[in-house]
Amino acid sequence: MSERTKFELPESEIPTAWVNLGADLGPPPHPPLHPGTKEPLTPDDLAPLFPMALIEQEMSAEPEIEIPEEVREIYALWRPTPLFRARRLEKALDTPAHIYYKYEGVSPAGSHKPNTAVAQAYYNKAEGIRKLTTETGAGQWGSSLALACQMFGLECEVFMVGVSYDQKPYRRAMMETWGATVHRSPSNLTEAGRSQASHESGSLGIAISEAVELALAADDTHYSLGSVLGHVCLHQTVIGAEAIRQLELAGEYPDVVIGCVGGGANFAGIAYPFIRHKLREGKSTRFIAAEPAACPTLTRGVYAYDFGDTVGMTPLMPMYTLGHDFVPPPVHAGGLRYHGDAPSLCALVKEGVVEATAVHQTKAFEAAVQFARAEGIIPGPEPSHAIRVAIDEALAAKEAGEERVILFNLSGHGHFDMAAYDAYLRGELTDLEFSEEEMQAALARLPEAPALT
Ligand SMILES: Cc1ncc(COP(=O)(O)O)c(C=O)c1O
Repeated sequence: MSERTKFELPESEIPTAWVNLGADLGPPPHPPLHPGTKEPLTPDDLAPLFPMALIEQEMSAEPEIEIPEEVREIYALWRPTPLFRARRLEKALDTPAHIYYKYEGVSPAGSHKPNTAVAQAYYNKAEGIRKLTTETGAGQWGSSLALACQMFGLECEVFMVGVSYDQKPYRRAMMETWGATVHRSPSNLTEAGRSQASHESGSLGIAISEAVELALAADDTHYSLGSVLGHVCLHQTVIGAEAIRQLELAGEYPDVVIGCVGGGANFAGIAYPFIRHKLREGKSTRFIAAEPAACPTLTRGVYAYDFGDTVGMTPLMPMYTLGHDFVPPPVHAGGLRYHGDAPSLCALVKEGVVEATAVHQTKAFEAAVQFARAEGIIPGPEPSHAIRVAIDEALAAKEAGEERVILFNLSGHGHFDMAAYDAYLRGELTDLEFSEEEMQAALARLPEAPALT
C-alpha cells in the first residue's frame, strides 16, 4: 500500500494541555451578565452550579491549561482518535482536494462529548459533589455525562429533549446502562418543565432550565453543560491539538477547517488550535461553521445578550441568538437544535475570523449517505452538516483545479440515528421550515440588556 489512510498517534501523545484561545482573544468586551442584576458575572455567581476549578477555567487568561493525569488516563480508553484521509470520497468526487476527517465517534459514547464530560466529572468529584444534572438533545451529551459520572462514582440525572426521547429510546437505555436516571423534557418534576408543558417536543433550552433548577435546589448537586461555555470548548481542543500533529505526519496543513455547530463545542475543539495559528502566525486557513437551516443561529440570529436557557435562569451571554424561547423545529440533528452559540465562537464570526453557513437536513443526509458509501462510517446527523460543506468545498476545489486541503470534524457516528436514515432513504425526510415570524416573536422577548457593538 503506497498511500496512507489513517494517521494515528500513540497514547503517549494524548495532549497534556488544553488550548485556551481566550488568552489570544483577550478579556471579552462583553462579559456575561448576572440574569437578575445585569452586572458582570462573578465567580461566586456561578458557584452554586459549577466547581471552582471550572469557573477559573471559564475566566482564565492562561494560554494552556494542564490536563489532569486522571483525565488523561480515561482519555486513553479512546484517545488519540484517528485522523483519516478520505481517499475514497476524494475519488468518488473526482476532486484534487485532500479531504481529512478527525473521527470522534470512537469514544465509548460515540462522539466528542466525553472529552469534556470526563473533565467536568473529575473536577466536580474533586470538589466533593455527589450528583450532576444535565440536559441532552440527541442523547449524545447525556450518554457521555452518564459514562463520565459512572467512572468517578457520581450520580447523574438527565433531562432529555422530548422529541429525541421519543426518537431514540436506545440512547436512553445507554444512559441507564451507565447508571443515569433519564426524564423526558418538558417533565412535571420541575417548575420550568411544568411551565413549558405546551411545547410537547421540548427543546434544549427547556431541558437546561429543568436541569439547572434541580441543581440549584441541592447543595451536593451541580449542573453540567455539554456545550456553549468556555470550559467546554476548552476541553474539546484536544481534538484540534491532535489533528495538528496528525496533519504534520501527513505533511499537510489545512486550507479549510469545518465543523458543525450546535452550541459550538466540537467546532471549537477542532478549530481553536488552528485559529491560534491564524491569530499568531497569520495563517490563511478558512474556518467554516455549519449549522442547520432550521435553526440558523449564526446566519440569521441577532447578536445580543440572551439567556442560555428558555426560562431565563442562566447568565446573559453575548451571542447570536434566535431568542431564548424560540423552539426550533424537530430536525433529526437534535444536537444542533439550540437557540444560541458559544460566545467565543459568536465573537469570532462577528470578527470575520469564522464563516458560517446553513445546511438543509435533506442536503446533510444526501452528503451523509455519499460519505457512508465511500468511507464506510455512518455519520451522525449533526456532523453530516459539516460533511455537506466539506463535499461542497471539495467540489469547488475541483472547479477551481486546486489541491485544497480540507479538514472536518466527524464529531460522532449515527448508529442511533438509523430511523432518520430510514426516512431519508424512503424519501420521507423533509426540510423543516424555519419560521422568521416565530424568531421575530422570540426576539421581541429578549431580556433588557446593554446593546452589543
Ligand atoms: C455528534 C454530535 N455532534 C455535534 C453536536 C453539536 O454540539 P456542539 O456544537 O456543542 O459540538 C452534538 C450535540 O449533541 C453531537 O451529538
